[in-house]
Amino acid sequence: MSDVSRPSPAQARAEARTAVVIPAAGRGVRLGPGAPKALRALNGTPMLIHAIRAMAASRAVSLVVVVAPPDGAGEVKSLLDAHALPERTDFVVVPGGESRQESVRLGLDALPDDFDIVLVHDAARPLVPVDTVDAVIEAVRDGAPAVVPALPLADTVKEVEPAPGEPEPVVATPVRARLRAVQTPQGFDRATLIRAHETVTEDVTDDASMVEQLGLTVVVVPGHEEAFKVTRPLDLVLAEAVLARRRLNDGF
Ligand code: C5P
Repeated sequence: MSDVSRPSPAQARAEARTAVVIPAAGRGVRLGPGAPKALRALNGTPMLIHAIRAMAASRAVSLVVVVAPPDGAGEVKSLLDAHALPERTDFVVVPGGESRQESVRLGLDALPDDFDIVLVHDAARPLVPVDTVDAVIEAVRDGAPAVVPALPLADTVKEVEPAPGEPEPVVATPVRARLRAVQTPQGFDRATLIRAHETVTEDVTDDASMVEQLGLTVVVVPGHEEAFKVTRPLDLVLAEAVLARRRLNDGF
């Protein structure tokens, strides 16, 4: 007997609920000494709050799971209470782990069952525009198991044989036109991402590469120059300049 009330796969994807996991448990040593990176201020507001607002700006996002430093969940909870956040979105804070991968997995463990799409977004990318977030969600809704926003490269990239303290020999020069610099949020079919985290145990630098290792296709949508990762001190200057330009453009 056919069940006419059951939604088609396309319908189910269109109605799928979306959650975001924000790994924010890193120390951020490359930024220099001080508070964990996600808690550093940009124009007076912690980077993490900017990142959370960037995710909650998408109307499709109804839950944000923040993965705090292992000993900092209480501090992060107080931070969320102290800042205005959209009411239509729920927020959960869980303690993170030793590696980014472990932190993401701990965030996934906290997801309720009724979310079929998961985005993973670095707290270190506080300024990603909502259009980029929506484009990633749209591509997952259209059926991609994994989606990454990315940009072409300005620099030529060389592969080297690392030799600390010595001039490093170049091993290869990949064709620049085929390379992309990958950003976050990365978007996933939830079951696929959970399987990837269960299957891949070696260290990776992004979640999509774990899905690649399952043999599934990861697709790229256009990234945005304002979705850059705040890693070094100069990135803080750039981030504050972007915020100042936005304030001018918003007429404040
Ligand atoms: O170190 P990296 O810049 O690659 O970190 C990317 C993101 O992963 C940051 O938002 C950082 O807070 C997070 N992270 C984490 N747990 C760790 C290490 C990094 O949540 N143990």
